[in-house]
Amino acid sequence: DVEQQLAGKRVLITAGPTREPLDPVRYLTNRSSGKMGYAIAEAAAAMGAEVVLVSGPTQLSVSDHIKRVDIETAEQMLSAVTSEVENCDIFIAAAAVADYRLKEVATKKMKKQGSGLHLELEQNPDILATTSIANPDLFTVGFAAETNDVIEYATGKLKRKQLNMIVANQVGINKGFDKDSNQVDILTADGEHITLPEMNKKQLAFDILDIICQTYHKEKPH
Ligand code: PMT
Repeated sequence: DVEQQLAGKRVLITAGPTREPLDPVRYLTNRSSGKMGYAIAEAAAAMGAEVVLVSGPTQLSVSDHIKRVDIETAEQMLSAVTSEVENCDIFIAAAAVADYRLKEVATKKMKKQGSGLHLELEQNPDILATTSIANPDLFTVGFAAETNDVIEYATGKLKRKQLNMIVANQVGINKGFDKDSNQVDILTADGEHITLPEMNKKQLAFDILDIICQTYHKEKPH
């Protein structure tokens, strides 16, 4: 039996990639199967939480008692998160959000041109930073997906996005994305650093939530 450490808590989770359209038939996206975020959603529900999962397009399904909100673009993810975050205790951002979108989306299929194609991109909102800064009482957990200098970049994101915790994973060919297993380091705002061994994402989800619960109760003893 799973200990009901999250009973009475409302947990909001983002998972999967976002898709930024170029025209009616093409899009820009990030690598993410959604496995990590979905595993966290299932584990949080098993630990007694009321779970809302805001998800980009994935091949995965979730249990009936998890509320799933499907979105495609980063802007849609931000508006879904903003409307679901009220009354939430914990926000975990496992989604691989596209940092850029097309400045202008073509309404008709773009035709091939001999001279190559130039796309003008503009920045997407940062869903995690926006939500964390707007909700100082929310316990916020980010992920950091890096190919190099993982801990250094993750520490920067923890501070800049004003998070309580960040889960750092190295990504690359056959690492982090898509696979059933993952290896992470967890950094907290208090300066704790926990290195977990590589394990199945379903087990890892429980380990990450255990550490979130310990840190959460340390900060909010009641
Ligand atoms: O889905 P899987 O195939 O199982 O793979 C899991 C994973 C590698 C995608 C996952 O473990 C992971 O690392 N997710 C975060 C991926 C990412 O985009 O990281 P980042 O370092 O670019 O972003 C930092 C944090 O800010 C993340 O929590 C991200 O969700 C958030 N973010 C980023 C950009 C943006 N515009 N809005 C955000 O909310």
